[in-house]
Amino acid sequence: MTADKLRELYLNFFKSKGHTIISGASLIPENDPTVLFTTAGMHPLVPYLMGEKHPAGTRLTDVQKCVRTGDIDSVGDASHLTFFEMLGNWSLDDYFKKEAISWSYEFLTQVLMFDPEKLNVTVFAGDGVVPADEEAVEIWKGVGIPEERIFRLPKEDNWWGPAGQTGPCGPDTEMFIDTGKEKCSENCRPGCRCGKYVEIWNDVFMQYNKKEDGSYEPLGRHNVDTGMGVERTICMMNGLQTVYETELFVPIISKIRELATVSDGDSTRSERIVADHMRTATFILGDGKGSVVPGNLGANYVLRRLIRSAVRHAKKLGMPVGFTEEIADVVIGEYKHVYPELADNRAHILSELHLEEARFEKTLASGQKEFDKVSSALRDHGQTQLSGRTAFKLYDTYGFPLEMTIELASERGLTVDVDGFNQAFEKHRSVSHGDGGTFKGGLADHSELTTALHTATHLLHRALKNVLGEHVNQKGSNITPERLRFDFSHPEKMTPEQIKQVEDIVNEQISKDLSVKMEVMSLDDAKKSGATALFTGKYDEQVKVYSIGNFSKEVCGGPHVEHLGGMGHFRILKEESSSAGVRRIKAVLEK
Ligand code: ALA
Repeated sequence: MTADKLRELYLNFFKSKGHTIISGASLIPENDPTVLFTTAGMHPLVPYLMGEKHPAGTRLTDVQKCVRTGDIDSVGDASHLTFFEMLGNWSLDDYFKKEAISWSYEFLTQVLMFDPEKLNVTVFAGDGVVPADEEAVEIWKGVGIPEERIFRLPKEDNWWGPAGQTGPCGPDTEMFIDTGKEKCSENCRPGCRCGKYVEIWNDVFMQYNKKEDGSYEPLGRHNVDTGMGVERTICMMNGLQTVYETELFVPIISKIRELATVSDGDSTRSERIVADHMRTATFILGDGKGSVVPGNLGANYVLRRLIRSAVRHAKKLGMPVGFTEEIADVVIGEYKHVYPELADNRAHILSELHLEEARFEKTLASGQKEFDKVSSALRDHGQTQLSGRTAFKLYDTYGFPLEMTIELASERGLTVDVDGFNQAFEKHRSVSHGDGGTFKGGLADHSELTTALHTATHLLHRALKNVLGEHVNQKGSNITPERLRFDFSHPEKMTPEQIKQVEDIVNEQISKDLSVKMEVMSLDDAKKSGATALFTGKYDEQVKVYSIGNFSKEVCGGPHVEHLGGMGHFRILKEESSSAGVRRIKAVLEK
């Protein structure tokens, strides 16, 4: 079974159950400043799980690119990855537990032909607030899973979400394949990390909303959110031991081996780290939103960390300078028929990798020397902790991400004073940059403020096109209740006159109190009608088109204000470079 076949079987199976196949979203979340990357298929669907109407209906299915960096330190073992593809199906207050569980069982045993005897499931055991999910237990029994293969587990195991700090979440039921290995202990059960049971699918019953104060309120809606991991499922279907043996990784690992000149006991781990990190970096850079490039904050830092860690492990394998581009090319070649954006952005991917590898090459050797010197001195003095100051120097002077220093240190049996590093970092930042800026808010925050700012980004987009030219295209946006941030393609700095003109145009529309209208149509019709569509999807996919008077027309998920009056006064605070050929505007609405 190949990944191509699995994606096709999944989407078609759910299509046959009345679902509409929709396109996956960008890896860079649009309006959720609390997370750096899209971590699950439900993430872009949060507004619809909360109650907004989806143009494609109440039953949806897709494949979503996901990045999760929580387990980055475990990459190198058999199953942890920082990038993966998630197959999902959703009920937006349509069907519920019975259909979700029955279809999961049918797909696993009658389409993928997993042996029903190998299937083990977990369900929510209940807590003081939400009762045990005996309903799910009964449904599983009804399809044929015996009591001894149904495990009731607590919230840590069987509750999913929200994706960010707030939003939809609920109890779940997870499906595991028994690999046939021996139990690691008496207590070994699904959820145990020994590798006997591999989780491949999760059905979440999203009936709750987590609020900012940490409490859970009933959503008043019966949603289903499911997620099946492509890499792990393929691995299980082909009876393989690790995801790196699947056809998705074989060409990448082969290329790494072809370029490597050293092979020793640690090589397997290094090969896997290079393969995983380069695949993730390629997908982030190839997302089509030029706004995430290697850097020192947030998502940019994660990308830098992935690339630099890959470079360090590539050195251990004796791989030549320039390897990042060669591996990325293999990844692009492997995936471009599913994710054409990778091929479209190939030049950008390769040039950013080239630059970052070169930047790090310049300091890596001297940084490594500094590290060796300090760690030998520590050993000579019988000490085991690297000071925060040293870790900061490695970061600041030699470009070593903190996590890399920690990894290097642990290879020598040393620890790092992380608090000391953070103190040095904060001190440096307050002196040199001011506040780095972490934002409060959330995707589920559809307050009046964020809604108005969202509408303002449409006005801004159109006004920029009017003033600078039609080459201007949105490259990213991020909204908090305080401000909007908008990235767009434009080759040079805007002049103060241009900024003023853009502000004036936006404020003129607001003062006209234009009304905002929404229509649902196919993507193809939307484009024909002249709507701006950043969205790449199938031509016949149903989308929402928002028109603001005759001024702007864009394909977008919403939500938006109904009338512009009362939005306040639009002011641009800052216009700066975001990356090559991409500018960034921060703006506010003042009352
Ligand atoms: N959102 C659920 C998960 O990621 C399906 O496991």
